[in-house]
Amino acid sequence: MLRESATFDRAVIDEIQRAAREGMYDIRGFGAKRRVPHFDDLLFLGASMSRYPLEGYRERCATDVVLGDRFASKPLHLDIPITIAGMSFGALSAPAKEALGRGASEMGTSTTTGDGGMTPEERGHSETLIYQLLPSRYGMNPDDLRAADAIEIVVGQGAKPGGGGMLLGHKISPRVAEMRDLPEGIDQRSACRHPDWTGPDDLEIKIGELREITDWEKPIFVKVGATRTYYDTALAVKAGGDVIVLDGMQGGTAATQEVFIEHVGIPILAAIPNAVEALQELGMHRRVQLVVSGGIRSGADVAKAMALGADACSIGVAALIALGDNAPEHDKAYREIGSAAGFYDDYQAGLDPAGISTQDEELAANFDPELGGRRLANYLRTMTLEAQTLARACGKSHLHNLEPEDLVALTVEAAAMARVPLAGTSWIPGA
Ligand SMILES: Cc1cc2nc3c(=O)[nH]c(=O)nc-3n(C[C@H](O)[C@H](O)[C@H](O)COP(=O)(O)O)c2cc1C
Repeated sequence: MLRESATFDRAVIDEIQRAAREGMYDIRGFGAKRRVPHFDDLLFLGASMSRYPLEGYRERCATDVVLGDRFASKPLHLDIPITIAGMSFGALSAPAKEALGRGASEMGTSTTTGDGGMTPEERGHSETLIYQLLPSRYGMNPDDLRAADAIEIVVGQGAKPGGGGMLLGHKISPRVAEMRDLPEGIDQRSACRHPDWTGPDDLEIKIGELREITDWEKPIFVKVGATRTYYDTALAVKAGGDVIVLDGMQGGTAATQEVFIEHVGIPILAAIPNAVEALQELGMHRRVQLVVSGGIRSGADVAKAMALGADACSIGVAALIALGDNAPEHDKAYREIGSAAGFYDDYQAGLDPAGISTQDEELAANFDPELGGRRLANYLRTMTLEAQTLARACGKSHLHNLEPEDLVALTVEAAAMARVPLAGTSWIPGA
């Protein structure tokens, strides 16, 4: 009998062999692949006798959300609480960025720039565009700050809290190089610390500066990877953020060391209650909005995140899959580069046959931004309908009315992290 070792399974053996051959850690895209407590470990209770459900066809369940009305004179009014996360032009092709804008705009939601700046295609096709200000400052341009609808200061990402960005040389095309002020074809590693501020005190000054540049019109988001979330949330609120973006350890990335993706940060399920606790203690829950991300895949995930206290969710990898990433029609081409449809995670390589995570013009031409945008809109529509179905079953006339009381956990771990009772009991471990 062939018996696989639980400690040295095939993936571990492969990785040791790869490391011995190459002498370098593995870099890849996508998100964490290990199983961690997640929204699948929660269930909705639904209404029955003690709660009254809403009628699916006749009774409205609203989905709109306002982001950034603490200080900004022009907060974002979105029709659905699912936004497109920041993904850089450089990591993604220009047509893929355009498709994200098309899909998001069709559904009345926002999309976000990324490391490397704003492209005209993206601005042109995004009704609501959030502009990221990152430690790298690549593509940073005050005119683009003003052209955006909101600004997101990136402190960290869930896939790599404490780590900087990476864009490997084969993706530094002439256009990417020009936007980032970099030489073509050379690996780029960007800073993990913001050069403009070192802590919450001078972050407050930076936020003031951004408000002045944009006439106090644009909401300022602060994005953090989920780690010491209670303190990070409190500090971001103190520094004057309008919106906190919280990205769990399952969060996607374009290129990060595998060891980082799998071993740093905490699951989004554990982080949301920490952030909500900090906001509630400061009297800021719902005043400063909480947008969460990291492995959101369905309307059920959205509804559960919102029941735990999030105001909206953001998606990265799922949006790329909706555009056509990992699609079966590309299986043959994926196999030619050593992968397969459903497994492709080499976003760093620039060889994407779907034309999404590449800067190769021929490959990018495989991707149709109009079709991609329609697929993304369909996916966002489906997620919204799913979340509404669940909310109505819990008797809620707005997704925001979902609450922790609507949830139970399937495992002791999820109950302890999400701070909801283990199913069939009133036990919340640690409460
Ligand atoms: C291809 C790709 C590129 C990304 N680029 C950036 C970036 O430039 N800036 C950033 O803050 N996060 C970036 N992210 C992370 C996303 O903004 C988001 O935090 C993450 O994808 C959410 O998790 P999910 O992919 O499981 O939905 C990127 C993610 C992907 C998949």
